[in-house]
Amino acid sequence: MQSVEVNGRVFDEYVTSQEIAQSVAKVAERINADYAGKAPLMICVLNGAFMYASDLFKQIELSAEITFVRLKSYEGTKTTGDVKLLTPLYVDVKGRDVIVIEDIVDTGLTMHGFVKYLKEQGANSVEITSFLFKPDALQYADAEPKYVGMSIPTKFVLGYGLDYDELGRNLPSLYVLRGN
Ligand code: IMP
Ligand code: MG
Repeated sequence: MQSVEVNGRVFDEYVTSQEIAQSVAKVAERINADYAGKAPLMICVLNGAFMYASDLFKQIELSAEITFVRLKSYEGTKTTGDVKLLTPLYVDVKGRDVIVIEDIVDTGLTMHGFVKYLKEQGANSVEITSFLFKPDALQYADAEPKYVGMSIPTKFVLGYGLDYDELGRNLPSLYVLRGN
């Protein structure tokens, strides 16, 4: 599909599923090399990262574990950078080498708060892999993902797990909002 309409907005195909698969394979290769001999705990941030996490995890050749969390970030005068866990983290991260799996890092607010939380819980190391990264939008240096599928301009994208008003997550390619 060259373009799709979701809730009255038109999105054009931006990255094909074949190109996505290639970039995911490259990330897996880097993680496999960097974590050789280690047993990382991978934490998938729901909902958006489920598709990336599934494709990535199949290519991880380590004795890795995966668990899932839902986060809500909020920015108030006092609460900047705080993140709320909407589901508990069922695995103890103390002493673990954690790799957070995200769909996209935009301002970095969500990852800034979650990385801080994981370190407070005693994680030995925390790195982020994000399928997409918008470097020009980043506001929190500690939220910069080490393992990026692709860096993109500050535009709204859809598909491969990412939604527009909860729709479009099922699209296997990545789409970009027309005229954005
Ligand atoms: P951040 O906390 O500003 O980095 O925002 C991250 C969250 O915003 C992501 O996990 C997404 O849920 C959402 N988000 C940011 N940019 C996009 C986009 O282009 N498409 C869909 N969701 C997005
Ligand atoms: Mg997300």
